[in-house]
Amino acid sequence: MDFRRLKLVILLLTVFLTATSSWRTATGRVSNFNYWTTKLFLAATGSLSHNNGNTTASTTTTQRKHVALLLGVRPTLTNAPKWLFRRAWKLHNALLPLLHWNDVTVENKNALKVLWCKAIASVDPQSVCQDDEWTYDMMPDYSRWWILKLIPISLYPRLHHANVEYRTVFLNRCIQQEIARLPAATKIRLVAIGGGYDVRATRMLSQNPRVHEAWELDLPVVIDGKRALLERLKERREKTKGPVQLPELLSVDLNDLDAVRDVLAEFPRNKQKGETWHTIYVIEGVMMFLNDGQPKELFQLFREAARAHGENASICFADHLTSSENSESLTDEEERETVKSLFGSAGWNHLIHWAVKPGKAKQMGCVRIHD
Ligand SMILES: *[C@@H]1O[C@H](CO)[C@@H](O)[C@H](O)[C@H]1NC(C)=O
Ligand SMILES: *[C@@H]1O[C@H](CO)[C@@H](O)[C@H](O)[C@H]1NC(C)=O
Repeated sequence: MDFRRLKLVILLLTVFLTATSSWRTATGRVSNFNYWTTKLFLAATGSLSHNNGNTTASTTTTQRKHVALLLGVRPTLTNAPKWLFRRAWKLHNALLPLLHWNDVTVENKNALKVLWCKAIASVDPQSVCQDDEWTYDMMPDYSRWWILKLIPISLYPRLHHANVEYRTVFLNRCIQQEIARLPAATKIRLVAIGGGYDVRATRMLSQNPRVHEAWELDLPVVIDGKRALLERLKERREKTKGPVQLPELLSVDLNDLDAVRDVLAEFPRNKQKGETWHTIYVIEGVMMFLNDGQPKELFQLFREAARAHGENASICFADHLTSSENSESLTDEEERETVKSLFGSAGWNHLIHWAVKPGKAKQMGCVRIHD
């Protein structure tokens, strides 16, 4: 069968399944269509034949199930080969112009795709990531409705969006815990390092009275698009859902240490005498795109800044921090030790939480400094 005809068949099947699934939901019966659509997707793309249960694949799967279970996330598609993830990512690329037709200008494609992944999890009735439509309100006017409301979420094969869901859940929990353990009088500054189009900082600043400030540091091209997205979100939400406070958006190249240092020096500008502040850095899938050795330099800077301002700080991360060579062959325990010693060498000595997830940004955890 030629490729074009195959695509048509998949399209028709999706439409058919969407229709049946809506009907099913309407009649009040819950069914796991995801199982069938993913099986179908695998069969259509020929990957069932790749699934011969060899040991490498099954080790990965056990690890996935383990972390999924701990986080309360439904796991990614069992035994999905890497090339299937790559193909899905490419297909998503091809769909972007359609999804963002007539939308505000947003240019960073990868960050945009991650945002769509988050949006899918954020409206999934079976997910703990549901966020009262904060992410939904970041999405384009017309496509958000048919992608996120019309098509049942259970139809999307659990590939990238499931993977992103792991880290969203993990980071949300780490941040909540860091906030909860601090004395009530301590004011919190949330700093998203290369947060892309993520809405977390805005949501927390608007909803959590403990968070007094939120900063986002990213490349100029991302910041421009983000500003447009956040302004639209504010306009949408303030009509019906209550006030929105926007974070401080700062364009900075994270590879440029001097520029980052200048930004960090501005942190205490709203701090009154006698107040205690605590900075929580959130790092999500960004360090792996920086120069070799840069993560350590940045962590050192964060530490220096905390010391200079007489504050404590935490870093919550889901990323790939160590150089990627040999990383495939490391056990979870070895991986933990590598990350721990990286932080240790930058002066961050308390590794509080740790987990490994599948995918590129697989090292997740939380570190702290205090006196
Ligand atoms: C298992 O899969 C990996 C990667 O997909 C491959 O390198 C390896 O040779 C396979 N092992 C066996 C026994 O088939
Ligand atoms: C830093 O943390 C330590 C230990 O939790 C605490 O005793 C100290 O008061 C904190 N200092 C500031 C400035 O928050």
